[in-house]
Amino acid sequence: MTRRQEVVGSILKERLGCLPALPLACAFAPANIALCKYWGKRDEELNLPLTSSLSVSLGEKGSTTTLSRSTGTKDMVISNGEVMPESSRFAGRVGEFLDLFRPSHDFYFHVDTHTNVPIAAGLASSASGFAALVMALDALFAWKLLPLELSILARLGSGSACRSIWQGFVEWEAGKREDGMDSFAHPLPDQWRDLRIGLLVVSGKEKALSSREAMARTRRTSPFYSLWPQKVEEDLTAIKSAIQARDIEGLGRAAESNAAAMHALMLSAWPSISYALPATLAHWETVWKLRQDGLPLYFTQDAGPNLKLLFLAKDLPDVLSRFERMEVIVPFGPMI
Ligand code: PMV
Repeated sequence: MTRRQEVVGSILKERLGCLPALPLACAFAPANIALCKYWGKRDEELNLPLTSSLSVSLGEKGSTTTLSRSTGTKDMVISNGEVMPESSRFAGRVGEFLDLFRPSHDFYFHVDTHTNVPIAAGLASSASGFAALVMALDALFAWKLLPLELSILARLGSGSACRSIWQGFVEWEAGKREDGMDSFAHPLPDQWRDLRIGLLVVSGKEKALSSREAMARTRRTSPFYSLWPQKVEEDLTAIKSAIQARDIEGLGRAAESNAAAMHALMLSAWPSISYALPATLAHWETVWKLRQDGLPLYFTQDAGPNLKLLFLAKDLPDVLSRFERMEVIVPFGPMI
């Protein structure tokens, strides 16, 4: 038995092996953007992080997944209306994850997922995808798991997916245990209605280097990696107090500095890693210039060239006038 199977077994117990309770189940999970990043694992197999991290979920942006038993002799994985070839990275990751939950070796799934953020472009689509998949499994088999258990299972698919079980601000506690049963996310009570996130899509192309590989290489080869846990601790404290005080300068500064530090670490890895494209750098410059001119505007960036801007609702007209093609997200909209 693998360690991943042991984790699943210890959560599901006798429920593992039972047939679906419903013919079909559907679930939605939001994408999430890390304000304080998860970058480096203490355990590759269980996706256990070296540090805690903190994100904000993207409201209606995310993945909707419909799940049922497949009548065929293999899994059928459909993403945004397109059947994924068995040989694709996408179908491979989904199939490997579903292996953990099959009631029998000849049980196959039909997975139909719709994601309304660009897939694999550093916009956290795998996080919402795995979270929605776990929630759909829970509904299909009527497991009735606790959110923290869903969070642990989602983490096995993709680390950051453990934060996509909730809307709003979410903290993932790194935990200390070897089996990772104390490494799950939980929501923070704060709502910040005026907070806005701007998505600047520079490229929707699939990234060449996965975050899994990039993280491992950074940890292994960056001479500065040993400084990262301390940086995360400081940024987490600053971000949490900025959230409580609704202080956009405090939040933006800590979040942008945290993202910049993560990308600097990647650049210092060998071979160097950079996810930025020329247009990404041009956007950095524009944000810095606007800030110099007095606009409280900040960015964060994940394992891709796209940027997420952080600002307040009152500044939306000014931000939009400089970034016309930006998509505006209201993380604490009427539904949250
Ligand atoms: O969950 P993964 O393996 O896709 O890694 C996510 C890494 C970042 O998005 C860059 C940071 C984060 O905390 O989400």
